[in-house]
Amino acid sequence: MVTFTLNNLILSASLAVATIAAFSTAAPTAPIHRTTVGSDPCGRLGSKNIRKIKYKDVADCYKAIPIDREIASTTINAVHDLFRDFYVFTDSALTPQVPAPFASEPVDILKELKTIGGRKYTSDYQFHTDVRHAVDTLRDGHASYDVKCYNNYGFEQNLTLYAPVEEGVQTLRVYKDNAKRGYEDCIVDKIDGNPSLPHIRAWATKRVSCSHDVNARQNCALARQGYDVKKGAFLDESGEFSYQSYLPDKGYVDYELRCSNKRPSGPIRLREEWNVYPQTEIAFKDVKSYVAKVCMITEDEPKSGPQAQFRPHRRNLVIPIRKRDLESDDDVTAAADGAPRRLFQEFRDAEKLVSGNATVFYHLKTQPDTGVMVVHTFDAQDEEVSTVLKGLNALHNRNVTNILVDFQGNGGGLISLSSNLVQMLFPSKQPRDASYEADLRVNKSAQKAAAVGFMANDGGYNIYNANEYYDLQTTGPASRYKNNDLFTKPVNITRNGRTNLYSEKTAMYFDPLSAKIVKAVAKFPWTGRRENIRILTDGRCGSACGMASYFWTTTHGVESYSIGGNKGEDLSMFSFSGASVITLKDVHDTYAGLNLTSPLEELAYKNEVRFSWLELYGKNRTIPLEYDAELYRPKHRLDYTSENARSRVVMWKEVVAAAWKK
Ligand SMILES: *[C@@H]1O[C@H](CO)[C@@H](O)[C@H](O)[C@H]1NC(C)=O
Ligand SMILES: *[C@@H]1O[C@H](CO)[C@@H](O)[C@H](O)[C@H]1NC(C)=O
Ligand SMILES: *[C@@H]1O[C@H](CO)[C@@H](O)[C@H](O)[C@H]1NC(C)=O
Ligand SMILES: *[C@@H]1O[C@H](CO)[C@@H](O)[C@H](O)[C@H]1NC(C)=O
Ligand SMILES: *[C@@H]1O[C@H](CO)[C@@H](O)[C@H](O)[C@H]1NC(C)=O
Ligand SMILES: *[C@@H]1O[C@H](CO)[C@@H](O)[C@H](O)[C@H]1NC(C)=O
Ligand SMILES: *[C@@H]1O[C@H](CO)[C@@H](O)[C@H](O)[C@H]1NC(C)=O
Repeated sequence: MVTFTLNNLILSASLAVATIAAFSTAAPTAPIHRTTVGSDPCGRLGSKNIRKIKYKDVADCYKAIPIDREIASTTINAVHDLFRDFYVFTDSALTPQVPAPFASEPVDILKELKTIGGRKYTSDYQFHTDVRHAVDTLRDGHASYDVKCYNNYGFEQNLTLYAPVEEGVQTLRVYKDNAKRGYEDCIVDKIDGNPSLPHIRAWATKRVSCSHDVNARQNCALARQGYDVKKGAFLDESGEFSYQSYLPDKGYVDYELRCSNKRPSGPIRLREEWNVYPQTEIAFKDVKSYVAKVCMITEDEPKSGPQAQFRPHRRNLVIPIRKRDLESDDDVTAAADGAPRRLFQEFRDAEKLVSGNATVFYHLKTQPDTGVMVVHTFDAQDEEVSTVLKGLNALHNRNVTNILVDFQGNGGGLISLSSNLVQMLFPSKQPRDASYEADLRVNKSAQKAAAVGFMANDGGYNIYNANEYYDLQTTGPASRYKNNDLFTKPVNITRNGRTNLYSEKTAMYFDPLSAKIVKAVAKFPWTGRRENIRILTDGRCGSACGMASYFWTTTHGVESYSIGGNKGEDLSMFSFSGASVITLKDVHDTYAGLNLTSPLEELAYKNEVRFSWLELYGKNRTIPLEYDAELYRPKHRLDYTSENARSRVVMWKEVVAAAWKK
């Protein structure tokens, strides 16, 4: 029997940087079913040495999969009904003109899905691709449609790209040349014959869905660094343009480079194919067995059930990490100040003091009054709180007075951890200081579930237990619902001309920070002082990260620095923050756990269909935070340079110098 409480369970989508399936870098496994090599496109793919797989092999197999109209029809109906009855932004997405820093088109997702449902597809691949793209147009990092069938291979370019500003001019350049030809920092004049920066911009606008903000999307598309817990260091990441988890539009990318340090001085023209990485080890010998084993939910995998695992894992953020030669950077040894455990020191100018599963604490040697708290994810257990306390104590022992919070690339995780972290810098004065107002969609099915789900604790995952939410209608200290009013007394909300039922306003329930921690943080010189705290973000701070960012900036007035995007333009402090995420499977599990029939059909294909189910509001705001663009604008802007993009400590020093001018 599995009993979870809601606040432990509501994970927001994780941008957790995952390594590509380990075996893809291991020795090639023996090819399977050699005898069937022939005219079957998936047979050819399945029998190939995994190191030799090319774009065309995958494309041929994918495109040979015939459509099963019955499966397609069930699929589109389930996805449509999910977005009609459960997705919380279906009506908000119709917003005609979203203000800067957002730039997204109004989307009528139901109409889009209906259109797809009405088409006579002959290609299964095209059908699923269209559904995925339709969901992506919402630009909600919490909403996605993924089927294993078509993300069974990842595609990587050897060149990764970024857009630094040097001497006031922004150009697209090579961030890293994984083929070691030395093209780093060559200017990319053209991609596929087009001026490169507009090309990337257009690609990010159309293909990236991590934010409503195009500049944040640009950052999602391009290369950067991310903290790797296992390696204990910042490693290079390709970005969504150079690492694609779905079949790219074509088999190569054309680049025109200009390298000042290279002869000849003329443009260097490269046609770069994709490196292909299988994402599973499932064997198949033809189209039929590919569908049966890779695409379809198989017998040995439980379809739905309360005991099923709930782990977020967002597709386009599964990024291969290239091993950097850590040895060569290890030119500093850990300070021998009697510390019981030596931490790998990657920077000369910053000493790593403490690290956990979500946070890392550095002391800046050049600015000894400043400490850096890197929060690279919230996808960790609540016990991370003790790591944070340890880290803050370590900084305090070094006489640090200023804290820089580095949120870059943080895709969220546990919102209870987020709430705790907020309070560790700004202890709450009221129980609900660190919680959002929120509401969710209600209709007959939800009410049916809630009638059974109220106080039902043994069904596992249950978003329909009103007791897990704050009753804002009661006077006095906020308390959890003691009845089912949340679901039995819905209200009509009309948005962009459409009316739907939502719950009355509520808030998620979080236990307040323990008295012990409140007491422990009280002694720190930065606690409760906005002038001693700054935030650094690249706009890729989603979900639980956006929540913490919102509270620190809007409620507590902490100033934030946003880096990257297009020079001179706004760049959001955070992305897809206005909601909480679950999957289609979670809906099934919820109903199964309550012994009810799910109102949505099961999909035949292995899938991850994620969506926002709970929308949040900023304090005293009437539009949901997800669409409240004003609250995303940063106080300060920074640009990437060739130096700060490759060294986090250089970036921190720039922020610190700007933030705490002497
Ligand atoms: C990428 O670079 C590696 C290392 O040089 C090389 O082995 C590989 O073939 C290259 N990939 C493509 C697609 O050119
Ligand atoms: C990190 O997570 C693992 C797995 O949950 C856990 O065993 C470990 O104690 C955690 N480490 C820290 C420092 O919290
Ligand atoms: C911190 O400041 C105290 C008081 O000024 C001093 O005694 C101590 O040596 C300082 N510690 C460090 C690590 O600099
Ligand atoms: C929710 O309500 C709509 C409109 O009343 C209805 O068409 C739909 O079938 C309901 N969905 C569920 C899952 O009950
Ligand atoms: C919501 O609006 C519909 C008509 O649009 C109406 O029939 C229904 O009674 C309203 N429900 C509530 C709770 O106001
Ligand atoms: C569902 O059915 C099982 C088995 O009959 C029972 O143990 C469980 O309590 C039921 N759950 C709910 C929420 O009614
Ligand atoms: C929200 O409104 C209340 C009541 O008008 C006011 O006291 C409070 O300061 C406002 N909070 C914010 C963050 O605007």
